[in-house]
Formats: sequence, structure tokens, C-alpha cells
Amino acid sequence: MQWYQVMLMLVLAAWSAAGGLVAQPKSAVAAVKTAASEDGLAMTPPMGWYPWNQFGQEPQNETLIKQMADALVASGMREAGYAYMGPDEGICFFRKDNGQLATNLKRYPSGLRGLGDYIHKKGLKYALYTDAGTRTCSKAMPGTKDHERDDMRAFARWRCDYLKIDWCNTKGQDMVKTYTTMRQAQRAAGRPIVHALCTWGKGEPWKWAAPIGHLWRTTGDICGPGRANWGRAVHIAFANQRLHPHAGPGHWNDPDMMVAGMDGLSETQNRGFFSLWCIMASPLIAGNDLRDMSKSTIDILTNLEAIAVNQDPLGKQGHVVRRDGKVSLWAGKPLYDGSQAVLALNRGSEPADVQMKWSDVGLDEKAELYARNLWTHETAGPHTGGLSVEVAPNDAALFRLSKRNTFPIPPIISADTYLLTFRAGGTAARSLSKAIKISDQGTSALPAWKVTSKLPPWLHVAVVREDEGQTVTCTVAPDGLERGRHHAQVRLDNKEPVSGRPMSAFYFDVDLEVDHDAGGDER
Ligand code: GLA
Repeated sequence: MQWYQVMLMLVLAAWSAAGGLVAQPKSAVAAVKTAASEDGLAMTPPMGWYPWNQFGQEPQNETLIKQMADALVASGMREAGYAYMGPDEGICFFRKDNGQLATNLKRYPSGLRGLGDYIHKKGLKYALYTDAGTRTCSKAMPGTKDHERDDMRAFARWRCDYLKIDWCNTKGQDMVKTYTTMRQAQRAAGRPIVHALCTWGKGEPWKWAAPIGHLWRTTGDICGPGRANWGRAVHIAFANQRLHPHAGPGHWNDPDMMVAGMDGLSETQNRGFFSLWCIMASPLIAGNDLRDMSKSTIDILTNLEAIAVNQDPLGKQGHVVRRDGKVSLWAGKPLYDGSQAVLALNRGSEPADVQMKWSDVGLDEKAELYARNLWTHETAGPHTGGLSVEVAPNDAALFRLSKRNTFPIPPIISADTYLLTFRAGGTAARSLSKAIKISDQGTSALPAWKVTSKLPPWLHVAVVREDEGQTVTCTVAPDGLERGRHHAQVRLDNKEPVSGRPMSAFYFDVDLEVDHDAGGDER
């Protein structure tokens, strides 16, 4: 490629990153080097499930986590994009006398690697929890202080994909240095892992954490285990929205795990809550009991049109642009197709008639815009000058405004497995194949994934595009390989189809066991 072609591509990429035709204020942090610019992880806000909000510590064990993985898939949440899941501070491991971490087998009898394999086989990504200090918050588990390299190797061995790193028992520790050491240790261990920093806003991580972490908590805990509180959730949303200039692809403000679907919130509040988390580009980490969800909770958590706002590849964080008593208007969320997400929140106890003028939400007052209601799934308009809408008490109306009468959904990716296992026996030379099916709930055709990792000679990977997704077929040729276990991690990359920006890295593991004596077959 010639230098001027490279320049043109950079200019085009910067133009589309800035929202294309939509005029954008220059972000103060736009040029910051991010962790994601090295590893390509979390280019859209991470989605998944964590147990703390619902369960606290004691009920966490292997059975509970596996049941929740099964429920996540059965409910349709996996196809809606939820992927990262696993124990929080669930008394998962202890430190042996030799300094190494080991699984608490009483609670996790398959071992933390076995649990990870289960989660990966379900087409989900494996999340674990640790603490940057000497012990975790309840002191039930060791922290990583002075064991960063060994512990990060253990997390890589267990095949963790996402690590929540708490900040309890850290007396005298420097926050930036500590989290930087952990990031370096993770990179040395060689497995891509999303770093979710958890200092509850202490130390203002939005100012320094983008190069070393992918998300950081901005506030204290959203609830005590088992019961949600609407007032507290809204308070947290207002605190978090102020930090909007600091969020973007690969580096997100995290106002804590979600409380939608928990006791303490009504259906209206669940919808209002989810709307807020979507417009703020907040990580969508569900915190409710997935085994016991009403249809309404499932419908809210899997509303693809709302998720499309959250997962928009531009990664802008919406925020409050106007407050009038108990009613607030939220905007500043341009989307990749040139449309805009806007929200009206009513915190009052009476229904509110909200007049949303285009000029209030930063748009040209003369624009003729179609308004898509992302909860009723109806389009109205075109409207000129603004929109009026009635919002129920403790509810939010969420709209997408566009010059066009079409509302495309960006890529929402899921896979039916992230682990392929092969067993080759006997002496005859042969090859074995297995496939991963990648589904996309988005509306634009995705370019084919490209393999970007170096593969071992025994593994061949082919990608085939189909109508509604892509199939990645792995073929192993065990002939001539030494007896024993072989492993490869396959990474594929893709471009988001409209802006041309890279999508979050897609990677999975391939295990091959060669046992010449067993005469075994693939499993
Ligand atoms: C902190 C975090 C919570 C949870 C607990 C576990 O308080 O903010 O989300 O992880 O620790 O003790």
C-alpha cells in the first residue's frame, strides 16, 4: 500500500469515528492510547452476567454458575450479545504454601479450568474475580499483591477472558502502579483478558486507566445483595453520566452491574433502568437470577433495538442535556448510521408530558426526523422541531431519531462455542474437523472474519459466510504429532460493516489430545 492510501484510510477512519456527517465536539480524551488499541478487546461495552447483586458471596459455587450459564443460553440472552459470566467474590481459590493459586475444590469440584471449559462450551466467555490488595473484600480469598505474575498465569491457565479486579485491603498501595503491574503481568501471561477495574470511582480511574484497563467502576455498589433500589440506581446514573467524555471503544465508565429484573424494581423501573444503561454505553452485566425471570424481564434485557444503542460501534456515552424538575433529557449519543439516541426520564410520581425540542437535544431545529420508539418498536414522523411524549412515573422513553425511515442494528455477535476439543487415537493418519457457528443479530452483512493469529502446523482454519452468520471450521491433522495434549488459540478479526472500524477481537481455544495407544476417536 502507498503512503497516500494509508493517509486516506486514516483520515476516513477518523472521520467515521467522529460520527461522519454528525458534528461532534472534540473529545478531550480522543487521542488517549487505550488497552484496546493493543489487544482489540471490548470495542463495544462488555455484556454478560455476574452473581454479586443477586447472591452476594455464600451461594456462589460451581452448580450455581453452571445453572446460570444454562439459563443465559436458554433465555436467548446469549444471542442478544451477553457473553462474559462467572463467579464474583465466590470463594473460588486459595494460595498454597508455594505461593501458587489453587481452586477451592469443595465449591468448584471441576476446578476453575473445568468451570471455564463448561462456560466456553456453552458459547460464553469466562469471567473471574480478584483483588489488587492482600485479600479480597470479605478476606475470603487472597489478593494479587506481590503475586501478580503467578496469579495472572493462573488466570490464563484457567482460561479466563474477563477479570474484575477489586480494590480492598490495599493500604499503602499506589493505584496506578498496582493496576499497571497487573496489566503487564497479564500481557506476559499471554492470554487476552478484559480488565474490569473496581475502585468504586476512588482515584478517578477515568483520568488514567484507559491504557491499562477496559472498564472501571465510577461509583459505589448499586445495591446490597438480593434487593435493588431505584433511587440509588438513578443516583448512580446521574453521577456516571457526567464522565461521558472519558468513555469510548475499549475504555468504558462502569456504573456497576445491572439491577433490572431484581426484587425492588417494578417493570417500569426495569425498563427505565435498562434505557439509562443503554444510552450511557454502560457495560451490560446483568445481576439478576437468570433462572427465574418473568417474560417482561427477558423482553427488556433482550430488547435488540435498545441493545443496538448500547453496542453502537462509535461508543459515545450519552448524558443529561437538560433538566426540568423531575424530568431529564439525555442525548449526546450519535450512532453509526447518522441517527441519534435520545431519552426522557421521569423521576416524578405523576406522568409527565415531555416536549423534546430538537434544539434541546443538540440537533438542528429545522431537521425533519423520524422517531423510532425503541420500546414500542413503532416509527412516527417525520417530525419537525421536536417531539412530544408522555412518560410514566419512574420510566424512561427511549428514541432513535433519523433522517431516514430505517434503523439498522450494528453487529451483535454470539457463538455456539468458544472451545473445540479433539481426541486423536490409533496410528492411522487422518484429519478431524469441527465447526463454530457465529451468529449476528445485526442487520448489515459482515465481512468474513480473518484469522490473525499464527496457527500451529497441525491446525487449519476456514471461514465460510452464510446468510445469517459465519461458520469457522477447524481441521486438525494429528499424524506425526507427539502423544499428549496440544493447544492453540485462534484469533479472528473483522471490520464493523459501515464505519470500517475494527470489531472486538474474536478468539477461541482448540484442544487436541493425541493418544496413539487408545485407538480413540474425536470427542
Ligand atoms: C466490591 C464490589 C462488588 C463485589 C464485592 C465483593 O464491593 O464493588 O461489586 O464484587 O466487592 O466483595
